[in-house]
This record gives sequence, C-alpha cells and structure tokens, in this order.
Amino acid sequence: MTDPLIDLRSDTVTKPTPAMRKVMADAEVGDDVYGEDPNVNALQEEAAALLGMEASLFVPSGTMANQIALQAHTQPGDEVIAHPQSHLIRAESGAGAALAGVQFRTMGNPDGSLPAEEVGESIYRGDNPHYPPTGLICMENTNNFAGGTALPPERIDPVAEKARQHGVAMHLDGARVLNAAIALDLKPARLTAPFQSATLCFSKGLGAPVGSVVAGDKDFIAVCLRYRKMYGGGMRQAGVLAAAARHALEHHVERLAEDHENARRLAEGLGNTPHLKLTHGLPETNMIFFECGHPRIGMEKLVAELAARGVLIGGMGPYQARVVTHLDVDRAGIEKTIGAFQQILAA
Ligand SMILES: Cc1ncc(COP(=O)(O)O)c(C=O)c1O
Repeated sequence: MTDPLIDLRSDTVTKPTPAMRKVMADAEVGDDVYGEDPNVNALQEEAAALLGMEASLFVPSGTMANQIALQAHTQPGDEVIAHPQSHLIRAESGAGAALAGVQFRTMGNPDGSLPAEEVGESIYRGDNPHYPPTGLICMENTNNFAGGTALPPERIDPVAEKARQHGVAMHLDGARVLNAAIALDLKPARLTAPFQSATLCFSKGLGAPVGSVVAGDKDFIAVCLRYRKMYGGGMRQAGVLAAAARHALEHHVERLAEDHENARRLAEGLGNTPHLKLTHGLPETNMIFFECGHPRIGMEKLVAELAARGVLIGGMGPYQARVVTHLDVDRAGIEKTIGAFQQILAA
C-alpha cells in the first residue's frame, strides 16, 4: 500500500470523518427554502449564538456569505473599505464589483488589520454628489494572505470606533474566526462584537464538506435571505450538510489548537531548511507562507519534487508558497513533510 498523500495546499481539502458521515447519513431533513429543514434551522441558531448575533443564514460557500453581506449592506456605487490582501478583493473573482456594484478603497497594515486613523479620514458620508459614500468597512480574521494572523480586539476596536462615529457598518470575513478565537484564547463572540455582520466557514479547518453562515441582526438576515435566493443559494434538503457542520462545531473546534501547534512545528522545520525563508515569521494559526531562494530549484520544481514524495503544497507564483495544517494531517505527516523539504533542498 502506498502512503496517503499529505495535502497541505489548504484546510479546505479535509474529508468528512466516519463519525461525520454517520450524522450526515442519519440527518433528518426538510425543504430549507420553505424554512423546514430541522438541521439547518438548528445550525443557524447555534452559529448565531456562537458568533453573538441575533440570526444567521446557511449558504453554500464563504464567497457567497461575503457577497450576500456586501450586497445587503450597500447600494451600487458605494465605496467599501477593505485590506488590499483581503479574500474579498483578491480571491472572489471581482464579485463585489460585478454583483453588488461597489468599488473598493484599499488600505492596510502588514498584519491584515486596517489603519484606524486612515479609515476615519477616508470615510465619506456627506452629500457632495462627486464622492462615493462609504457603505461598508470589511475586515478578515484570521487574515489569510497576511499569514493567517489572528487579529486581537485591540487591532479591531479602534476601526470599529471610527465606523461607529460615522455611522458605517462593519463586516467580518470570519471564514476562520474560530482559529483566531482559539489562538487568542477568546470567545468568538468577542471577536465578532465590533461587527454588524460576520461569516464563518465549516468547510475549512472545521472539516465539514460544504457550507458557511452569514450572521447579523434579524432584519439584516431577512435581506440576506432574499439575496441568497437571488444568487441561487437556496439548497432544499440541506440538512445533510448542516448536520456535518453541527458535528464540526461540537467536535472540531477545540482541536484547532493541534493544527496551530503542527503549523508551528512545520514552520520551525522549514525555517531551518536551507534556502527557505518564512514570509511572515512563525505562524499564529494554521498557515505558513514561505519563499524559496534556491539557485536551481524554483517553486514549480519544488512543488513537483514534493508531490513526487507524497506532499502537496500550494504554489503561489514563482517564489512563494503556502502550506496549511488541518484535521487530516497529523504530527507524523508534519515530520515527513519536513524530511521531504530537507531531502530536496539540502542536496
Ligand atoms: C478568508 C476567506 N474568506 C472567504 C473564503 C471563501 O470561501 P469559499 O471557498 O467557501 O468560497 C476563503 C476561502 O479560502 C477564505 O480564505
């Protein structure tokens, strides 16, 4: 038997565990477009409580959760303030411009947070018809492309204060907000408290196959429900998926700490490997970005050599790559990965 692949490209690659598959198979279901799926209804309540919001809505993906929120908060032509490295801007196929019709104003600190003073100076809520009104401020926690950073309240609250002063809503892309909560040893609701809406993905480190929620107050979620329908996100007997997400919330949250420890061990190993440099230093959560400066082994070759040894990583252009730890990679896999890197690069 060949060894299983060690797939570190993303935490989205996790497969449902046998216990999760069992709850999916046994799940009671109903038509969720009629609001009759008991598992979806229960999940929406549980996720809302976890995020400290009045209500939440189950949707197929993190992208849809973000895009519905953007649409529900803004008018076409509004300006949305966000970090240039945010998933919303870098990795959602231009949806904010194409669907909600908003334009982005980008600003950011290297850790993925927003500069509060600059945000305050950039907000426009006046009546001069030349200027686009600021419709929303978006943040991301953990911040994926800043290195999986966990932003603590002191990096969020000053921005929220500026937003409050000007009457602008704040949205959190909380795809991995539970990783942030575990890393910071805080309740998720503390991290979402400064925001009027927040998302959460079950299909990443939590290990469910599909699904996210967008959460907010009841009126906001009623608007989101309409956009979910418009975007084609009504899923009928979605209880099989919601049951997996509920199982993940019960069994896979505390264990995110293991992924963070594995990421740290892996980063230490990579940091000690010739020609590798950690882009953002040691990881705060489950992601490591690194660059390869080997004179003959470029990133494409490194990715291929690792794959030949059963290790998959996410190449991000000619010099940089990302590795992400998760539920399906244990400590033995981490040690094997470090060994594979050293074999290729120390040769
Ligand atoms: C921070 C962040 N937000 C949103 C998403 C989008 O999630 P999905 O792939 O489910 O659309 C991702 C996906 O990796 C992400 O990393």
